[in-house]
Amino acid sequence: MDRAAFCCGEPELDAFFRVHALDHHEGHKARVTVGLHDGKVVGFYWLIAQSFPLNKVSAEAERLFAHLGATPCGYLGMLGTQQDRQGNGIGKTLMLHAMRQTLAIAERLGVYALTLEAINERRARQYERWGFKYCVEGALDMYIALPTIRKAGLAPLRD
Ligand SMILES: CC(C)(COP(=O)(O)OP(=O)(O)OC[C@H]1O[C@@H](n2cnc3c(N)ncnc32)[C@H](O)[C@@H]1OP(=O)(O)O)[C@@H](O)C(=O)NCCC(=O)NCCS
Repeated sequence: MDRAAFCCGEPELDAFFRVHALDHHEGHKARVTVGLHDGKVVGFYWLIAQSFPLNKVSAEAERLFAHLGATPCGYLGMLGTQQDRQGNGIGKTLMLHAMRQTLAIAERLGVYALTLEAINERRARQYERWGFKYCVEGALDMYIALPTIRKAGLAPLRD
């Protein structure tokens, strides 16, 4: 696929996708998922496992994982849609895919939540509309607990 042609408009995300995504994916440093339309890349996201400091996600996580000293999470590293395709539901579709992917992982590995760091406050508000909550007030770290995703009726992704 032509990764060099991808542009979501955020230089850091574009540079990652064009230059590093393949290495990260093949080296299992992250798992990169790509959305394709007519053979062209229209979006991507990547996921990694993350151990979040105990008091940094939610009061509930602090209670549930006190014995471990950290909260097991899936971290959505980046999410981007090809600039001229934005506003057509691709971002939402990729986010739902990432949520379902995390549910599938959670069938084999304990995972409390899907987490991310919004790039700015506008994006954070969008993630809020998609069910994410702020980990710490005033910061852009956000999470959605997996029971919330299940309650919304999403099912684990199947191969
Ligand atoms: C954030 C991003 C992935 C969303 O992708 P997308 O394909 O446009 O997403 P969708 O079409 O599913 O729309 C997502 C929301 O943005 C709104 N939106 C998208 N484009 C819009 C536009 N041009 N004008 C107004 N609203 C817009 C949609 O109404 C939707 O809101 P809703 O979920 O409340 O209904 C995309 O804008 C992007 O790649 N941005 C640059 C990179 C970036 O900022 N990534 C996020 C890092 S935290």
